[in-house]
Amino acid sequence: MFLRGRILFCLFALASLPEYGIGQEKRMATGTETSQKVEALLARMTLEEKAGQMVNIGLMALCEGEFYGGQDTIRFDSAKLYRLIRDYHIGSVQNMGKYPLTIKEWRYFIGRIQEVAREETRLGIPVIYGIDGVHGANYTVGSTLFPHQLGLAATRNPKLAEATGRITAYEAMASGIPWVYGPSLDVSKQLQWGRISETFGEDTYITQVMGDAYIRGAEGEGLGGPYQIAVCPKHFLGYGTPFNGKDRSPVYLPEHILRQYYLPPFVSAIQKGAPSIMINSGSLNGVPCHIDKYLITDLLKGELGFEGVVISDWADIMNLVEVHQVAKDEQEAVRLAVNAGIDMCMEPYDESFAVKLVELVKEGSVPASRVDDAVRRILTLKMKLGLFEQTMYPESQYPDFASEAFVEASFQAALESLTLLKNEKGILPLSKEKKVLVTGVAANSLNYLNGAWSRTFSGRETDYNDEGKLTVLEALQTKLGKDKVSYAQGTGYEEDINTAEAVRLAGEADVIIACLGEQPATEKPSDIEDLSMPAAQRELVKALAKTGKPIVLVLLEGRPRVISDIEPLAAGILMAYYPGNEGGRAIAEVLMGDYNPNGKLPYTYPRHTGSLYAYDHLRSEERDVNWGFNAFNPQFEFGFGLSYTDFTYQGLEVSPLEMSPEDSLRISVQVTNSGPRAGMECVQLFLTDKVASVSPPVKQLKGFEKISLAPGESQTVQFTLGPEALKFVNPSNQWIAEAGQFVVAIGPLSQEFSLTQDIISGAGAH
Ligand code: BGC
Repeated sequence: MFLRGRILFCLFALASLPEYGIGQEKRMATGTETSQKVEALLARMTLEEKAGQMVNIGLMALCEGEFYGGQDTIRFDSAKLYRLIRDYHIGSVQNMGKYPLTIKEWRYFIGRIQEVAREETRLGIPVIYGIDGVHGANYTVGSTLFPHQLGLAATRNPKLAEATGRITAYEAMASGIPWVYGPSLDVSKQLQWGRISETFGEDTYITQVMGDAYIRGAEGEGLGGPYQIAVCPKHFLGYGTPFNGKDRSPVYLPEHILRQYYLPPFVSAIQKGAPSIMINSGSLNGVPCHIDKYLITDLLKGELGFEGVVISDWADIMNLVEVHQVAKDEQEAVRLAVNAGIDMCMEPYDESFAVKLVELVKEGSVPASRVDDAVRRILTLKMKLGLFEQTMYPESQYPDFASEAFVEASFQAALESLTLLKNEKGILPLSKEKKVLVTGVAANSLNYLNGAWSRTFSGRETDYNDEGKLTVLEALQTKLGKDKVSYAQGTGYEEDINTAEAVRLAGEADVIIACLGEQPATEKPSDIEDLSMPAAQRELVKALAKTGKPIVLVLLEGRPRVISDIEPLAAGILMAYYPGNEGGRAIAEVLMGDYNPNGKLPYTYPRHTGSLYAYDHLRSEERDVNWGFNAFNPQFEFGFGLSYTDFTYQGLEVSPLEMSPEDSLRISVQVTNSGPRAGMECVQLFLTDKVASVSPPVKQLKGFEKISLAPGESQTVQFTLGPEALKFVNPSNQWIAEAGQFVVAIGPLSQEFSLTQDIISGAGAH
């Protein structure tokens, strides 16, 4: 009953979130007007002014002290501010320093930058401020922090991704920031990579659907209002699947695989109007993406028709010299990158890019027309955002910043993300009468709930944690009363702290809740040597198990850290990803049965560090040492997630069973809540192509729908698959569906059907 109430309340809460921007007067001009204005402005600009527009500089380059000085107080250095904005005409500023800023501080800093641009430069072109908003407007004090994208993917609820986009936009705009570097559309099939939590996981379709929803939320009806931001999908292309698992390291993927698995979310984002895209910091098939003309100019801007701004990643043009070794000096790096099609250089530290670019154009090694193309794109974005009319809206227009409704949306996202992976002998939900020991590095930490990009880049500093947010321990104490909850941390991330004390307290408790986790980290600091959960944390669980008390593991981690030696010791396992500031409360709700979990894994959880598979692997990958097909044996499969109730599937119908190229496949299935509690279930549709000229994946997700059922209630869920769903990309880069047998599978049910004729499209499109 409670659950039902909660579902209704939350659906109401999401539905009642204002559609910001709708009905608001747009400051945006029409397409023709914009392009006329852009051309007129461009015609008046000097080469130096154009080169300056193409720089995206770090805020700290305008401030007192060293860039990485870690200043306790961030203050403008007027000389630097004037030099860069006035003298070098720099057109874009980004990011922050050591600590997050309040709304007022942001508005002051950005307002002052705009003032210098407006009043001290010849043409008064506004600056565009960009920032990372990975799970909310995470660098503004007090903003709503959501689950990271991986958790959103586990919810399988696009409405929650849309709400995240919408609220991030609102709260970024409240801070005067109109441009956010996200969403991450990196499909990640490399489980060792440290930024998996920032992605929607390993599946192309989920990434596309959730990415689209986020963009819909963030951009609303179009740019140019007080509540919409420009998004910047990233990192084009292949970034999420580095060959060796380390961040920013080489990706080796054939073009037809890139097109089939990695490109579609970007194609869709472009179609939805994404006005900027960030480039992959690493290399693709040996060529650093930042100099890959085929990738940026031919594919992205040409074939996909992307008309927005292509921005480099952090310092990645200068990195072409020392890191990638494809340019003998910075001059050559700038030439290669701009000629490849980069429009804006995220050069955090200084104006060197602009200076070099001017020289290159003067000597004729970068065409002036290429610079014009880049600046045209940048000015168009600024105009679409309405920055020429108004760089910031009054603070009073943002009364809902961090409001209850926003926090509720984040809480709901956290609840729906939680994925129950094991529940033996009904250990969960826990009885409220029981005494629990709460232990583990993640048990009493807001940082382990929020991960990286939380007030600071690393997310590890505790000084900037929000007051009033509850850790798992605090949320359980609130629910059960302090007398029923004991606590010992047990371990740090990699070292024993007081395992012995935890074991002693376990003796006095009825149940142990061990919150294990992965310390917050991103980019290079997130590289690891071993995918196993650190030994100290596993040793803690082994020591606790000796008490004979039942153990429930709560996992707060980005990557699926291998736990095969302790999994048998746990009666229950709850995956929480990085659920954000409301995660502690959400975990307590699920553990105590006040919320029925419904998340589904967005990746394949490996059993062994040497067996890393994606769910849509090839059958040949399943061959084992005895030449059988038993090698695919993950700890938990992609799409897996338990509930406190049971769902039964029946009556799968697929029609027509002989499909011609003109047909669409209609699929229906009846789902019944056959258990004792209300609950939500994500109905997932998988497709298998039985034989194809390119070895087909064993299955692919082609549809999902989340439904809510009372005990005993049934619902018929319908899907329609067009012929494009049957296609793959062949080595000639054509989307093709080959005649033959296919299988649709939903839950335990499956149905074979056939395609009667081949269908071939050209390169790129479906
Ligand atoms: C990251 C990007 C991020 C950018 C700006 C880079 O190092 O790879 O994802 O948007 O920094 O902070």
